Amino acid sequence: MQKIAFDIESIRKSFPILNREVNGKPLVYFDNAATSQTPQQVIDVIVDYYQRYNANIHRGVHTLSQEATDAYEQARIKIQKHFNIAKSHEVIFTSGTTHSINLVANGFTSFLKKGDEILVSAMEHHSNIVPWQMLCERTGAVLKVIPMNLEGELVMDKYHRLLSDKTKLVFCNHISNALGTINPIKEIIDAAHDVGAAVLVDGAQAAPHIKADMQALNVDFYTVSAHKMCGPTGVGILYGKEAWLKKLPPYQGGGEMIAEVTFEKTTYADLPHKFEAGTPNVCGGIAFGAAIDYMNSIGFEEIAAYEHELLKYATEQLLQIEGLKIYGTAKEKTSVISFNIEGIHPYDIGSILDKLGIAVRTGHHCAQPIMDFYKIPGTVRASLSFYNTKEEVDTLVAGVRKARQMLL
Ligand code: ALA
Repeated sequence: MQKIAFDIESIRKSFPILNREVNGKPLVYFDNAATSQTPQQVIDVIVDYYQRYNANIHRGVHTLSQEATDAYEQARIKIQKHFNIAKSHEVIFTSGTTHSINLVANGFTSFLKKGDEILVSAMEHHSNIVPWQMLCERTGAVLKVIPMNLEGELVMDKYHRLLSDKTKLVFCNHISNALGTINPIKEIIDAAHDVGAAVLVDGAQAAPHIKADMQALNVDFYTVSAHKMCGPTGVGILYGKEAWLKKLPPYQGGGEMIAEVTFEKTTYADLPHKFEAGTPNVCGGIAFGAAIDYMNSIGFEEIAAYEHELLKYATEQLLQIEGLKIYGTAKEKTSVISFNIEGIHPYDIGSILDKLGIAVRTGHHCAQPIMDFYKIPGTVRASLSFYNTKEEVDTLVAGVRKARQMLL
């Protein structure tokens, strides 16, 4: 992959949406943790697919189908290489992280029994809580929570004490969507393996910032959504170790996931197709591959260094505003700033910022237990990306000051 120099002006030129206005002001997009923006390089791949070789895959002998199949399978290999996955059939295309997690949770139903324990971190997105609660309801397993401290870091000695031979599964995000905390997942994975538990790491928020290495992490399952890393919505992957994927039953039945079907019995296709029933998001998968190419052409080390500077600057500037409190002050943190101003509802700040052309997310960020922990209704969340600038941070800070003046 040919690297391009980290030149913020030329990077921004790749994102046509950054040129638009919102409410008569230049768009300042700080909702990257909800969804990232899409560079022209990825948009071109999507347009090219629909203009030249839109077809169903793995099914047709005709040229378009073969071209689409090749491009889709090449994307799988790009994803495999990016995450240093041992075998390409350990990459399962899904509609995104929620789908990936539900696939695993459903598959574990017959492996668990009453009294088994599942550990989940206190800073999970609802998509990494609810499927496990549903699994517990089906099996009688018990969900236990790895607590966090006020900085938004997991209390690791409590985690180690929670682990026992009853622990069968551990779930944790790599990076918290609401706080930005980077969790010590290698320690979490190794300790879980010591008691024989499997580990699923939700990598949705990490993938845009960190090039995670599946073999080095030795994780059992890892989930990613393309739309958080410059790709389209509606596509993602589940990484699973081959041994686990062979053991898990299929999640959905349908075309493409079978070896042979009769009315008496069906046998299932080999990996990865066993988990890919129905016509997949062909264009999405191909564009996901293009997004990975695009991000690698900039470089993950360069992205991390730039975002770290931006985070530091934005944190310092925001903290100068009277009454502003940041939630999530972990030592290891990515470019997510969740904050409130004393006496003001986050929604009101978000609405004024929108009038100024600034996009942030407000509310509980699909992580209600975190808000309950801090005893707040929600936060304003500014999530920064490598295509944001210090000037945009200045616009945000001025906007928050203005909102404060208007609302207090
Ligand atoms: N999980 C996404 C977020 O954090 C939607 O905003």
